[in-house]
Amino acid sequence: MRGPRSNPAPHLGPVLAGLATVALATVAVGKGPPPRWWAPGEGRVFPQQLDYANAQGSLRVLLAGEPVATKGHPFFEPLGSNGRACVTCHQPADAMSLSAETARARWDATGGKDPLFAAIDGSDCPSLPQAQRASHALLLNRGLFRIERPWPPKAWNGAPVTPDFSIAVVRDPNGCNSAPGHGPAAGNISVYRRPRPVANMKYLLAVGFPFDPKQGYALPLDPDDGRMQSGNLMADNRAGNLRLQMDDAGTTHLEFRKRLTPAQVTRITDFEKRVFTAQQSSRQGGALDDMGAKGGPAHLRDSEPGALGSIGEPVWSEYAAWDKLSPADAARLTPEQLAFRRSVARGARVFRDRTFLITDTAGINSRIGFGNPVRNSCVFCHNMSQMGNDVAPGQVDLGTTTMPFADPWPDLPLFRITCLKAPHPHYGRVILTMDPGFALTTGRCADVGKITLQSMRGLAARAPYFSNGLAKDLRGVVDYYDRRYHIGYSEQDKQDLVNLMSVL
Ligand code: HEC
Ligand code: HEC
Repeated sequence: MRGPRSNPAPHLGPVLAGLATVALATVAVGKGPPPRWWAPGEGRVFPQQLDYANAQGSLRVLLAGEPVATKGHPFFEPLGSNGRACVTCHQPADAMSLSAETARARWDATGGKDPLFAAIDGSDCPSLPQAQRASHALLLNRGLFRIERPWPPKAWNGAPVTPDFSIAVVRDPNGCNSAPGHGPAAGNISVYRRPRPVANMKYLLAVGFPFDPKQGYALPLDPDDGRMQSGNLMADNRAGNLRLQMDDAGTTHLEFRKRLTPAQVTRITDFEKRVFTAQQSSRQGGALDDMGAKGGPAHLRDSEPGALGSIGEPVWSEYAAWDKLSPADAARLTPEQLAFRRSVARGARVFRDRTFLITDTAGINSRIGFGNPVRNSCVFCHNMSQMGNDVAPGQVDLGTTTMPFADPWPDLPLFRITCLKAPHPHYGRVILTMDPGFALTTGRCADVGKITLQSMRGLAARAPYFSNGLAKDLRGVVDYYDRRYHIGYSEQDKQDLVNLMSVL
């Protein structure tokens, strides 16, 4: 008689056989967990859901609609001459941006050979010795790519713009504003910027206002379809729609010899509009979409931007439910999770309700103006529900690139701007800046230092922050504001804001 213990084979046999088959299949096609890094031209399928661990928990990337076969897809294939694809700098694990940490990991894994480090903009300047790590310091240390803009400025269609300021190079640590062929005298200016996330585009492209309340202008019309543009793309808004942005990326980052075909433009646009990303779980707080909270990207994918001219639900109300957890829910959490969730909910309130004096901030305090100073909170500028970018189009000078609010960094170029007509409303006639921002698009000295607000989703996956990487972590962001506007946040307020931003 066979006892249960005498011959386990009948039970385990099929399991073992199954394992063997899996093992064989694994060996046969060389499959492990898919690598974190998406290399150009791999031909992987982009699934409807991707999850990536990061220091704060995990990020989720959702693709609305069907999975995308990336083989032959222009976002993923190296179409230009340097082996890069769009995905090189817009990585899913980094919330479709690229963190400085990832850049360092790529350098270490490839000895600096990855196309990411292409001389054109993945080094501080193409004139530097490319094999040396130091020549890529801005990318490795601060996550910055070189952006070369024409000087004098040109409109999106190449039309010359006559600037009302002159620009002189005060300091050029890497040569790209003074080496032969580089710098204002040679017809260009190099600035250094973070990649902006290619995700949640439905919101960034939504037109929240029928005019630009910051400069008091009509919104620019889209040259392709004649509709109003949202004004939310690129630090300096040089490309008003996704097609113009792609053209710009193609000829610069990818070193295309040809332009993208209309069919390629359509495929990239389709993909860009279907990608949604946000933190999905928190190391300290647990799931971000339970107990009444609506964190994570699914909610972003499934809802619509607030109606024209409205700001929808108050920003970060996703986590309001954590303010009033039922005793039963609270009992299901560890004390650490409960404390963290309460901190996130408080952070959302600090973000919305804690007011301070916003001073000398062009785009807010000047021109048509809300007055100077104006008392308001983070929400005054970061108001789009679920996203934290600005519903009202237009660029704002937070001071992140410009003296005296930003410390001049020895490794970034420094420019002296002289306003030739009216002085700048807050800085006067002469301005020192590391990146003139929007002024490189408009040619107006009143626009020096203005930068387009980013969305605040997926922050945990894409340090450092601000267009020039000024804040190395989320605490650095809060400290910058505390200094810039003399807010006087308590230690608790600061931690609450950091915790809030870590779950977005
Ligand atoms: C070498 C790195 C690199 C590559 C390659 C690259 N980008 Fe970017 N991308 C950037 C940087 C840097 C910015 C921000 C530029 C700025 O603000 O001036 C950006 C900005 C964007 C934005 C604007 C997002 C926003 O919210 O403002 C979109 C869209 C975008 N890229 C799409 C693409 C597409 C499509 C491709 C391929 C055709 C591509 N990128 C290739 C680095 C890159
Ligand atoms: C006066 C308008 C204004 C106010 C008020 C404001 N911000 Fe910003 N914020 C901006 C602008 C403009 C940028 C883009 C600047 C840059 O990238 O250099 C920005 C960028 C950011 C970023 C960087 C996002 C990224 O992708 O790098 C974060 C995070 C942020 N703000 C958080 C806050 C917090 C927290 C507060 C309240 C303490 C706040 N902001 C208040 C205008 C504002």
